[in-house]
Amino acid sequence: MEDEKKRMEDEKKKMWDEKKRMEDEEYLEDPIPRDAILIVPMEVSATPKRSDILGTAGKFVDDFIINVKKAGIFESMGVQPTKTAILEGEKGTGKTLAVQIINNEINKKLLTEIMTKHPNPTFSLFTLPYDIGRYGTPYINQGSKIMQTFFDTAYQLAKQTPIHITMDEFDTLAEGRGLSQSHKEDKKVLETLMKNLQISHDTPNVYVTMMTNLIDSCDSAAIRAGRIDKRIRFELPNYEERHKGFNYIIEKINSTAGYKVIRGSKPDLLAEMSERFSYADIIQSVNSAVTKKAEEISIIETPKVIKAGYIKQGRLEKAVEKHKQEYNLNEKRIGFC
Ligand SMILES: Nc1ncnc2c1ncn2[C@@H]1O[C@H](COP(=O)(O)OP(=O)(O)OP(=O)(O)O)[C@@H](O)[C@H]1O
Ligand SMILES: [Mg+2]
Repeated sequence: MEDEKKRMEDEKKKMWDEKKRMEDEEYLEDPIPRDAILIVPMEVSATPKRSDILGTAGKFVDDFIINVKKAGIFESMGVQPTKTAILEGEKGTGKTLAVQIINNEINKKLLTEIMTKHPNPTFSLFTLPYDIGRYGTPYINQGSKIMQTFFDTAYQLAKQTPIHITMDEFDTLAEGRGLSQSHKEDKKVLETLMKNLQISHDTPNVYVTMMTNLIDSCDSAAIRAGRIDKRIRFELPNYEERHKGFNYIIEKINSTAGYKVIRGSKPDLLAEMSERFSYADIIQSVNSAVTKKAEEISIIETPKVIKAGYIKQGRLEKAVEKHKQEYNLNEKRIGFC
C-alpha cells in the first residue's frame, strides 16, 4: 500500500516536471517580437550644436570628432583612435547631450545636402542607440540574440560608414542582473555585451560610447582596460563653469527672443548661489524665471496688446533659491539620491 502511494506520487511528480519542461520550451521558443530588432539611426538636426555644450562634455565632443575624422593619423602612428569610452558621473552634466551634438556636428553636410536637394545625401556617421527598453526581452536566449543582431548590423554598416553605438543607462546592461526575469538570460546578455565590446574595439570604423550614473554597479570585467579605452568622469560644474552656464542660458534666451528678456543679470552672483547645481539645474532655473513672468503677463494682458516682458536679477535669484528647495540641493548629498 505504502509502495503504491509512493509510486503514484512519483508518477504525479514526473507529469508535473514534464508539464513544466514543456512550458519552458514554449517560453524558449516564443518568437522575438517583430519590431524588437528594428535598428534606427539617430536623427540629424541643426540643434543642439557644439556651442550648446559646456565643460567636460564639450571637450568629449571635440575629442570624439577628432578621433573619427582623423582616424588615419592615429593609425599611421601605430595606434588606434579612441574606440570605446564610458561617460560616468553626475546627472544633468551633458552625457546624453554630447552624443546628440556629435551626431549633428559630424553629419552637418547631410543637412546641407538635403536642403540643396542633393540626389544622394549621405551620412558621415551613423549613431545607433542601443535601446534597452525595446531590445530587452524576458525570453530565454532572445535578449542576447537581439543584442548580437544589433552588433552584427553595426559591423556590416561600418564597412562603409563610421558607426557610433551608444548605450545609455549602461549599468542596466552591465550589472549582469535585473534586466530580464531570468538570471541565466541576464548573464548571457552580459557575456554577449562583453564579447561585442571587444570586437567593436578591434573593428575599424566602430565606436562605442556608454553612459552611466552608477559606474560601481557595472561588472568590472565589462569595463576593464582594453575593452574600454577611456573612462571619463563628468563632475558637477565648478564656479567658473556655473558662471559660464548662467551666461550661456541668459544669452541664449535673449537671442532667441530677439530682445533683452533678461536685463542686468549678475551671473557671478548666481554662480555663487548654486554650488551643487548641474548644468541641467542652471538651465531649468533660469528658464523657470522667464516662464513665470510669461505666465503672469498671459493672465493680465489682452490678446491684442502683448507687452514685451522682461525680468531682472532679483527674479533670477528667487528662481535659483526655489529650484534649490524643490530639488533638495541645499544639503551635502549622501549616496546617489
Ligand atoms: N555640459 C552641458 N552644457 C550645456 N547644457 C547642458 C550640459 N549638461 C546638461 N545640459 C543641459 O541639461 C540637459 C540634460 O542633460 P543630459 O540629459 O545630457 O544629462 P545627462 O548627463 O545625460 O544626465 P543623466 O545622467 O541624468 O542621464 C541638456 O539637455 C541641457 O539642456
Ligand atoms: Mg543621460
